[in-house]
Amino acid sequence: MDTGASLAAIEEEARQAIAAAPSLAALADVRARFLGKKGSVSSVLRGIGALAPEERSRVGEAANASKERIEGFVRERRETLERAAQDHALAARRLDVSLPGIRPPQGHLHPITRVERDIERFFAGLGFSVEEGPEVETEWNNFEALGIPPDHPARDMQATFFTEGGHVLRTHTSPVQIRAMSGRQPPFRFIAPGRVYRNDRSPRHSPMFHQVEGFMVDENVSFAHLKGILYAFQRHMMGAEVELRFRASYFPFTEPSAELDYRCLLCRGAGCATCSQSGWIEAGGCGMIHPSVLANCGLDPERWQGFAFGMTLDRAAMLRWGIPNIHLLFEGDLRVLEQI
Ligand code: DAH
Repeated sequence: MDTGASLAAIEEEARQAIAAAPSLAALADVRARFLGKKGSVSSVLRGIGALAPEERSRVGEAANASKERIEGFVRERRETLERAAQDHALAARRLDVSLPGIRPPQGHLHPITRVERDIERFFAGLGFSVEEGPEVETEWNNFEALGIPPDHPARDMQATFFTEGGHVLRTHTSPVQIRAMSGRQPPFRFIAPGRVYRNDRSPRHSPMFHQVEGFMVDENVSFAHLKGILYAFQRHMMGAEVELRFRASYFPFTEPSAELDYRCLLCRGAGCATCSQSGWIEAGGCGMIHPSVLANCGLDPERWQGFAFGMTLDRAAMLRWGIPNIHLLFEGDLRVLEQI
């Protein structure tokens, strides 16, 4: 046989197979097919023994040269394939700065905070500023200074949490009146939103809830101012069509005292479960600040007078978002809070 011609044919076949190898694994197979122990070039070398002595070195040299060239094709192809694999891997990891970013999950304000801020904005527009007081109060601020001595039945009504050392968890925001007015000179226009505590629990009562107190003191403040401001406030909260009524009531720290009701928005006054069939829902208490409260703060009741009111925030939030049970507001259940 003409080993020169067959070597050339093997080499050409190898060149084509190597160039066509689609992957590094396929390339290794092709290499084995031509250069491995049982490969085509090796068979030529193995056949040398059968050749005439003068032929042996020529064919051996030619076969080794072929082998080296084929190795060269393999090396080249391997480099190409490796580069392609690397480019591919890089392309897969490439940073596309034009893609929209990954948004971290975002929280939002609690419904009570939203109602509170809304109220603060409303009253800021009327020139009221925000006062704060502590949630652990003295009995003087929470009760006595507001006309509720130790034996007064109003203490029983506000099922109180007492702490050791004669303090209470404030049962209402009214003690902020005492703090804000003591040692200062009117005119005053304040609101005081915050947490309050009572030993009460039902679907409509939580032992912790929120109130907003409002009070205004000057030389000529009358019940008419109170009515005008509360009407505007309730229209802001409930909508312009809300129907309101003042009902005579009693609080130890106001005289006269009233409760403000609004016509039930659900049944429009016909009577339903939400308004206990009465057609009306309580918005809160109010009245003209009792002269003895002013005196307890060091103010002259002959000169100064004012009004005060206290409302529950939680009920406003429940109404606004149709939350049927007050406890849903404070359990931290995201399935509830994310709906708001
Ligand atoms: N502090 C009262 C309560 O918790 C609410 C209240 C009634 C506040 C009349 C007032 C007021 O300022 O004038 O039930």
